[in-house]
Amino acid sequence: MKDKNLLTIESLNKEEILEILDAATLMKQGNYDKNLLENNILASCFFEPSTRTRFSFESAMYRLGGKVISLNGEEASSMKKGETLFDTIKVLGSYADIIVLRHPLEGVAKRAAEAVDKPIINAGDGAHEHPSQALIDLFSIRESQGSLENLNIAVIGDLLHGRAVHSLVLAFLNFCNRLFFISPEEFSLPKSLSNKLRAKGIPFSFNKNLDDIIDNLDVLYVTRIQKERFYDKYDYLGVKNSYRISLEQLRGCKSNLKVFHPLPKVDEIDVNIDNSPYAYYFIQATNGLYVRQALLAKLLRKL
Ligand code: NCD
Repeated sequence: MKDKNLLTIESLNKEEILEILDAATLMKQGNYDKNLLENNILASCFFEPSTRTRFSFESAMYRLGGKVISLNGEEASSMKKGETLFDTIKVLGSYADIIVLRHPLEGVAKRAAEAVDKPIINAGDGAHEHPSQALIDLFSIRESQGSLENLNIAVIGDLLHGRAVHSLVLAFLNFCNRLFFISPEEFSLPKSLSNKLRAKGIPFSFNKNLDDIIDNLDVLYVTRIQKERFYDKYDYLGVKNSYRISLEQLRGCKSNLKVFHPLPKVDEIDVNIDNSPYAYYFIQATNGLYVRQALLAKLLRKL
């Protein structure tokens, strides 16, 4: 990996992405040195709620023999006394070998990376990007479909505020698939992203109805409405429950169709899908561990 940080998925080329996915496969097979990151310390800094991202990064570090120090929001640190995030991160960078940072403001990981010389992983910066999630998504799609090319892929949900979607769409610039986007009208994919797809010649369309395209899909990637990004709760009430995938809707789909979701899911997927052969989201969440093991080892230059 040329870049010492992972701030945006765009910093990785196709070859580097595939190298991480291959390393994650070895991690999943248990085919790795359990002390690979012995003597390495991860600073896990979260200024927004997290379950999977935080615990999978921390677990990944422990599983490779490393150690973890952590910061839970401003309340628990000297930021409460008025210290800037950048002073805080600068100091943490001298205690740890690598930093995972989640923050509600866009661009914070990038600015933090300017303050320290240790690698920084952007674990979500506002509505901007969540690059390690995109790697997990690619790994899971490849695992379930045997390929990352020539697939019919629908992405449904809050495409405007969803940082996982943004990184995934940018990752798709490296692969040739047919993309379908479905969202409430006001939460359509940002133009900057659709322009990039167009420039790369990736075929895509904005669709109104899942039912019109479901029969040909290989991948259905569902996301929740990012209600914490709304400043007006009434806007949220307008789109709440505006889409919900039912098991009934999947009847007649291709037998290889899998449903993905970065999680947490709220009410956008019928619980009956959870135990159907289509659900892949819990396996996807488990894969987070292996992909993050691979990513930590790569960024710490141990692989
Ligand atoms: C995502 C996030 O935080 O952006 N969650 C995750 O990391 N798996 C998606 C979401 O919160 O909807």
